[in-house]
Amino acid sequence: MKYKKLGNSDLMVSVLALGTWGLGGGSVWSDKDSTAAEAARLLDACKEQGINYIDTAPVYGTGASETLLGKALEGRRHDFILQTKCSLNWRGEGGNFHYSRDGYTVNNDTRGPAIRRDVEDALRRMGTDYLDSLIVHYVCKSFPVAETVDTLEALVREGKIRAYGLSNSQPADLEEYMSAPEKKQGVSLVQEFFSILSPFHGRDYFPVCQKHNVSFQTYGVLEEGFLTGPAFLEKTFAKTDIRSRIPWVQPEYHAGLRRVFAAWQPLCAAKGCSFAQLVEAWALTQYEQMSLLVGMRRPEHAAANAACLDIALTPEEIGFMEDAVREIQVPVLDK
Ligand SMILES: NC(=O)c1ccc[n+]([C@@H]2O[C@H](COP(=O)([O-])OP(=O)(O)OC[C@H]3O[C@@H](n4cnc5c(N)ncnc54)[C@H](OP(=O)(O)O)[C@@H]3O)[C@@H](O)[C@H]2O)c1
Repeated sequence: MKYKKLGNSDLMVSVLALGTWGLGGGSVWSDKDSTAAEAARLLDACKEQGINYIDTAPVYGTGASETLLGKALEGRRHDFILQTKCSLNWRGEGGNFHYSRDGYTVNNDTRGPAIRRDVEDALRRMGTDYLDSLIVHYVCKSFPVAETVDTLEALVREGKIRAYGLSNSQPADLEEYMSAPEKKQGVSLVQEFFSILSPFHGRDYFPVCQKHNVSFQTYGVLEEGFLTGPAFLEKTFAKTDIRSRIPWVQPEYHAGLRRVFAAWQPLCAAKGCSFAQLVEAWALTQYEQMSLLVGMRRPEHAAANAACLDIALTPEEIGFMEDAVREIQVPVLDK
């Protein structure tokens, strides 16, 4: 495993991070509900591969992902860098409507009291007294950034969090957070959608991240499974499942994706790697301070994904991969 500092923080994080949206199961990742024992085996596999960085969020399974992680972390909390999120909550205490699902209404609230309650709820669910990293899940224009930054900085001073970041944001949001008068430590990372099928938002972001010494953390680098190979295109998903609304689920995209896999196949053969490992290795070439966040529920995926760090791609190979997808690339999706 390779480790890098998380932006301007003092956290040394594995370049490959564990994403646990799927671990939350429920109607969103409807093919599988994980148990505490499975979550523990997943963390065992991560530890074996040197993956020390875990990402979760309160809304993943409406508390389920954090709760399962809390159980799996019992007795080994300090072995991992634990990151969760704030702003999206289902407490019914105001904020902007974000979505309704399974009888819950989720609001977005980036004001100080809401962030503090998010942190207390997350700490309780995960059975810990500090978070290594806290991400504002959806940057929001309705509430003052100064108040959000003030609260995040206070949480750092109080030892409740060690670093903080932004998600579903724009480069201008990072500039605004970094220039808030309350800023001391500042933003350490942004977590944004980024894949070879949708690299544009990330490319706009990299220079601004670089300017502020901020890590860029990918999500969706495997397009929720659609970049793992042609077999995935045969799957069907429940209407509530998050994968039923990604463009790649629609049959009209399948021919294009199959052409891409056919084009990449000889490169995979030459590198001795899977399509998943190939696109992960590609992502790592895109920005020096890239944090590769990959969703995993199956323990065997920890080793499979860790192997992407050993794949070296030449500029010609990178260009070849990008040429193969050019005709089907899409602008960033709003997740
Ligand atoms: N900030 C945000 O708004 C936001 C939005 C979306 C996601 N995220 C975070 O980013 C993480 C990653 O995104 P994601 O989970 O949506 O999508 P993803 O990482 O693109 O894809 C995850 C899917 O790929 C499968 N997979 C992983 N490694 C594989 C391998 N080596 N071979 C074959 N299949 C493999 C997983 O299977 P198994 O599950 O069966 O192991 C899972 O179904 C999330 O878990 C979450 O932590 C954040």
